[in-house]
Amino acid sequence: MQYTRPVIAAPGDPSARRPSGPWGSDLAAELYARFADGIARLERFDPLVATLGKSYAGEERRLLYLMVRHAAPELVFELSPKRGWSTLHIAAALEDNGRGKVISFELDPVYGHLARSTVRRAGLGHRSEVVVGDVRDMLPQVYERWRRDGRVSGIGFLFIDSEHSAPFATWYIANLFPLVVPGGLIHVHDIEAAPERVVSGAATIPEPLGEERVLAEHLIAHREAYRWWSVAAAVRDSAYLERVRPWGGGRLALSPGRRPHPIEAALGMERNPTLWIEKLGAQEAVAYPYRPFEPLRVPLGRRLRNVIRRRLAFVYVPLRERRRERRRRAKAATPSA
Ligand SMILES: C[S@@+](CC[C@H](N)C(=O)[O-])C[C@H]1O[C@@H](n2cnc3c(N)ncnc32)[C@H](O)[C@@H]1O
Repeated sequence: MQYTRPVIAAPGDPSARRPSGPWGSDLAAELYARFADGIARLERFDPLVATLGKSYAGEERRLLYLMVRHAAPELVFELSPKRGWSTLHIAAALEDNGRGKVISFELDPVYGHLARSTVRRAGLGHRSEVVVGDVRDMLPQVYERWRRDGRVSGIGFLFIDSEHSAPFATWYIANLFPLVVPGGLIHVHDIEAAPERVVSGAATIPEPLGEERVLAEHLIAHREAYRWWSVAAAVRDSAYLERVRPWGGGRLALSPGRRPHPIEAALGMERNPTLWIEKLGAQEAVAYPYRPFEPLRVPLGRRLRNVIRRRLAFVYVPLRERRRERRRRAKAATPSA
């Protein structure tokens, strides 16, 4: 069974694929019109915003759903799910496509357990698999197993919202981007400024952990191999908002359940810091490249704690979540000073 789009260019083939089809705001407007019914049905997840969807804003989640509908991938790699909010939207889109699976990599065993239960409770468990561990160790194993089984020959859809450090970005650019097939989509979250602005120094608020700069420099240095689109820029563009609002898009009000980021508090609206990237260049590798990376230095105590939490997640996590929910309700009921 073929689990990603076919490899269009042979590995090492320097020929770039010509950009084809609409992109950016044009693509978003087209997808909103085409999948308006699916967008309306996403409202069933709204009650979960307060518990799951703290960091991923409204326009981002609608566009994530739409891009998965559009690409109709057989396999999505997700790094990382946390409580499963992004996973839920990917799985819902796969379900509406009637095909495909999302494999999510989560370092924290508690979040791994929660992500699994989030998709199961939504009746989408059959679209999802959650792998617990450092994605840099686990993804090569999963990818290579699937490749040997003939189920995968590259990455068609890559969702990135994990560790936001420069070394982590260096790892995924060196090891995952070469596997992405021509026409494959890459989503990177927490990228506020467009790459051109980061590289030219025009980005006024640099993202502190370094991912944004490493990614921007790679994209600008290889601009013939990619095209990209900033959602944060789109939601500040009134022409974009006018085009998508008739279909339920462009709603930017701060959700009551979300804790606003300082930039959002200043703007008075959700900032939606997502960068969408399409690979135009050839797939550079079919086998996982195993380029080296700085391993995580997890102290022994934390490693042991993680083993125990993983084993006991089925009893520990529900208790922890009930306590969290009680605190959240108590806080919501307390009038602010
Ligand atoms: C920003 S959160 C993801 C939010 C999620 N996409 C959502 O929609 O709510 C980042 C997650 O990455 C996980 N993470 C960080 N480093 C990781 C690594 N090396 N391997 C796997 N997961 C990692 C964290 O445990 C955390 O759950």
